Amino acid sequence: MKKKLVVGNWKMNGSLAANQALIEALLAGVGAPACGVAVCVPAPYWAQAQDLLASSAIDLGAQDVSQHAVGAFTGELSAAMLKEFGVRYAIVGHSERRLYHGETDAVVAAKTQAALANGITPIVCVGETLAEREAGHTEEVVKRQLAAVVHTNGHCISEIVLAYEPVWAIGTGKTATPEQAQQVHALLRAQLHAASNQSDRIQILYGGSMNAANAAQLLAQPDIDGGLVGGAALKAADFLAIIAAAQ
Ligand code: G3P
Repeated sequence: MKKKLVVGNWKMNGSLAANQALIEALLAGVGAPACGVAVCVPAPYWAQAQDLLASSAIDLGAQDVSQHAVGAFTGELSAAMLKEFGVRYAIVGHSERRLYHGETDAVVAAKTQAALANGITPIVCVGETLAEREAGHTEEVVKRQLAAVVHTNGHCISEIVLAYEPVWAIGTGKTATPEQAQQVHALLRAQLHAASNQSDRIQILYGGSMNAANAAQLLAQPDIDGGLVGGAALKAADFLAIIAAAQ
């Protein structure tokens, strides 16, 4: 039975004091979870989080990783640097980076490759905008985004975590219905199955206004293997409730 995975994406939030309070509250309440748990923390706080999370049930993640190994790439952070701080996961291709930083499908595929080459598990994000959904292009968009990653990474695709994040549900409180999410997850599962005979092990997370109230219904869907959580990850009680729903 595949374990579910609940990942918090803190985005550009936190401070040394707030991080300590949040992580200590999570550690006090997380127990021995039957699911995987990770928090993706802004880079300046990796050392703090690594110390606080040491020997705990909560893994450390990053919110991005460079496709480059080393060199003149100002401001970028390499997979090797993530490894130095015990980072296990790296979100790649988040819609906010595709939008604000012009990350293309090819760049996302290269970032995925760099993470895998350094033993970091990439959490590859795909998802359509509201305009794309309303135009009936959801399947075409998410399949195109995933196809680029499959093409570049070949059989290593079985080592990724995939996240379906409908852009119109991110930060809006407008969550996809369990049926809407399951429909896209099933499409992605079929595409992964065609690419790798190991695809059943790939966890496909849902992201987009997942919260304590809707998590159980979403996680009950056959192809939803966990959540990639933004706002609700910044409140210990809410994030712990989502973790509890993923047991
Ligand atoms: O990466 C997760 C994030 O995009 C979802 O954000 O606030 O809608 O849970 P939120």
